[in-house]
Amino acid sequence: MCSNSSLLVGKFLCLSLLLFCKENDLFLDNHWKLSRTRESNFISPMTCGSCHSKQLNAWTNSAHANSFRSGIIWQLPKFSHSERENCYKCHLPNKMQIVEVNINLDNPKINIFRNSFLDHKDFSLSCSNCHLRNNIIYGPQPSENLKEELHGKAAPHKIKIQHEFDQSKFCANCHQNASDGKRVNNKLLMNVYEDWLESKAYKENKNCQNCHMPNRDHSFKGIHDSEFVKNGIQFQFIRFEKKIKFTLRNIHVGHKFPAYSVPRILIYVKKENRTFQLDEIGWIISLDLQNEIKDQRIQQGESFQKDYDIKEIKNLFQIKSNQLTNFAFEIWIAPRYHYGKIFSYILEKEKHITLFEKFHLQKSIDDEIKSRYLIHKTNFSF
Ligand code: HEC
Ligand code: HEC
Ligand code: HEC
Ligand code: HEC
Ligand code: HEC
Repeated sequence: MCSNSSLLVGKFLCLSLLLFCKENDLFLDNHWKLSRTRESNFISPMTCGSCHSKQLNAWTNSAHANSFRSGIIWQLPKFSHSERENCYKCHLPNKMQIVEVNINLDNPKINIFRNSFLDHKDFSLSCSNCHLRNNIIYGPQPSENLKEELHGKAAPHKIKIQHEFDQSKFCANCHQNASDGKRVNNKLLMNVYEDWLESKAYKENKNCQNCHMPNRDHSFKGIHDSEFVKNGIQFQFIRFEKKIKFTLRNIHVGHKFPAYSVPRILIYVKKENRTFQLDEIGWIISLDLQNEIKDQRIQQGESFQKDYDIKEIKNLFQIKSNQLTNFAFEIWIAPRYHYGKIFSYILEKEKHITLFEKFHLQKSIDDEIKSRYLIHKTNFSF
């Protein structure tokens, strides 16, 4: 990013660097910086929603409306204020909330079961964080739908149209690590924007908003939504001779599937109430984030293929090869898998854990389990 590096090198170089920056990088760099430095850049989403109820309803169920949750909160008391800023940049990019959260976290009498940050929609990535700066609402060219929703009324607030809202770069601020960010096996932990640049979607002029905000929908559906995921991929189990052949194909996901090291696609075989896991697909890295174990993410247009040997499956369940038996092959999505693993490990191993940490770690682990869902099942008899 232009502005950060230029701070380090003095005024003249800074000016010349600025000249080389693209115009939209300048707008966006400044846009994201302002949201964290001025308390006045905030109006509650409920207030915006009194007129923009469609956007409020959609956003309320989105991951953005839940961007400041237990998984982050339990870690923050361990960090200095400046270390916390690293997290706030993407998870709570607003000065007014940051000040209040810091006061609460620094108070030793903090009530550990206080859920106000979790339930209160002001403490999240809300309307103002993306749209409001210095009393001006920034947005895309308004759509025809918007005019209908608001019955042709004039806006009560100043509006500035910025075409950056229609571009993938807008999302990159939080969904793409800077090139000097943490790498595992030389890959950035979050590389969604760069992966998108390599995708078929990019060649077809489909950006993040086209897929994640169709008709400007603000529910930002992603890996937590079963229908959304199913529309992006194809899968099948077919029997061929002595094997069950499994194929999982990325058709319409405009980056790797899944995008990061967090989610997993879990393949199970079941018989009555016994279950074995056959595969764990995703980018699997060690819990300390140092080593890659394997990377089986699927690029757009590519497939994951695997043959499961019928005899071996029967062996797993200790069933004789000539005994006809019913089996179910299932595909599950675990959107927050990695966090569930690491938080369970910490809860189990860490000796000096405060009640505050324990409460939020447990909540985060429970939420992870609840977020898993079945997307497909095929029954076979063999
Ligand atoms: C009292 C009603 C009201 C409130 C409150 C309100 N708006 Fe608006 N807003 C409007 C109207 C009316 C328009 C104009 C629609 C049109 O262009 O026809 C509008 C337009 C917009 C646009 C489109 C601008 C563009 O260039 O695309 C955005 C974005 C927006 N508002 C966001 C917000 C946000 C964020 C808040 C809260 C901080 C908010 N509004 C509060 C009524 C309101
Ligand atoms: C560059 C933006 C960015 C920064 C900086 C960032 N995060 Fe995140 N974080 C994300 C995104 C995006 C996700 C969602 C990942 C997904 O859904 O796969 C996420 C997810 C998480 C989750 C999982 C949410 C849950 O509870 O299930 C935790 C925990 C988390 N981040 C903690 C942190 C902490 C702690 C920091 C600061 C040290 C931090 N993050 C800094 C962007 C960021
Ligand atoms: C993560 C950033 C983000 C958040 C949070 C967000 N928006 Fe938006 N909003 C956008 C983007 C990006 C667009 C333009 C999408 C496009 O061009 O396809 C947009 C477009 C709009 C529009 C124009 C819609 C149209 O049909 O022309 C309105 C109005 C709006 N947002 C209001 C809101 C309100 C109200 C909230 C909170 C309830 C909100 N936004 C939260 C990023 C955000
Ligand atoms: C062609 C459609 C398409 C485009 C373009 C696209 N996505 Fe996605 N995205 C999907 C689908 C479908 C999923 C659900 C499957 C999955 O999780 O990979 C998804 C999932 C996600 C997730 C959930 C996390 C995860 O680990 O999978 C995030 C975050 C995300 N996309 C961000 C982005 C961003 C940022 C861009 C633009 C740089 C973008 N997407 C472009 C279709 C698209
Ligand atoms: C200011 C930072 C920020 C910006 C800008 C931003 N996001 Fe996010 N986004 C996040 C964070 C943080 C999360 C994870 C929240 C959590 O789960 O704790 C997230 C989660 C998501 C998810 C995950 C949904 C799921 O099911 O896991 C999708 C999809 C997504 N964002 C799409 C977008 C798109 C598209 C844009 C651009 C229009 C965008 N985001 C802009 C911070 C941001």
